[in-house]
Amino acid sequence: MTDRALREAGAAAVRFNAPLSDERAAHLIEAALTALPGVVVDYGCGRAELLLGIVAQGGAGVRGVGIDLDERALDTASANAAAREIGERTSFVALDATSYTGAADVAISIGASHAFGGFAAMLQRLRASRAIVADGFWAAAPDQWCLDTFGELPRGLPEVEAIAAAAGWDVAELDASTLDEWDAFEDTWAAGVAALKTDAAWEFAATRATEYRDHYRGVLGFAWLVLDR
Ligand SMILES: C[S@@+](CC[C@H](N)C(=O)[O-])C[C@H]1O[C@@H](n2cnc3c(N)ncnc32)[C@H](O)[C@@H]1O
Repeated sequence: MTDRALREAGAAAVRFNAPLSDERAAHLIEAALTALPGVVVDYGCGRAELLLGIVAQGGAGVRGVGIDLDERALDTASANAAAREIGERTSFVALDATSYTGAADVAISIGASHAFGGFAAMLQRLRASRAIVADGFWAAAPDQWCLDTFGELPRGLPEVEAIAAAAGWDVAELDASTLDEWDAFEDTWAAGVAALKTDAAWEFAATRATEYRDHYRGVLGFAWLVLDR
């Protein structure tokens, strides 16, 4: 079994492929709908649970477009949209996020800034009156393993905020995933891998749990921003 298949099992087990609680998701859906969007575009949508929530709650005037390179995730998103009777107001496009040129009233990008070449590049690129974005930052001093694994990231929320402001956004909200959100995400993700019940899966899940505990728990942060132009 490949590492990719093991990662897919982890991703399939979580509702969002990010440390995001249902409570925060509900708040972000409200934040998107406050901007009275016609079109919401999610860049790097994965299975697009947040986008589907916005479209479902937003009613007839709201359309959603999900962009991702992962066609299996898009197929799942599309099937879920149909099952929730919002298939006619959603579309999913297998495309590099930077190649999509359609207009957006609200732009979303959660954990997918690498598609744009990083957090600052993503914020400069997104065009919408409101953006809801989330990305990694260092909440505490990273060790060498963290730097080798995740690379250079903004140091602290003030640096995250400064990057958003420099890209021309007004920061309406800025917050970080809690340790409870992180623990729930990591536990569910690793359990999804372990559920494959092979030696390789158990080892992969155990390694991930050890890396989290010993290196990035409380160190790798995940920042949530609601931004306006
Ligand atoms: C960490 S996952 C987050 C998925 C989703 N936003 C969520 O919160 O559940 C990052 C996503 O970005 C997608 N991605 C990576 N590179 C991409 C690119 N160049 N263009 C579009 N999507 C990309 C991946 O396929 C993956 O679904």
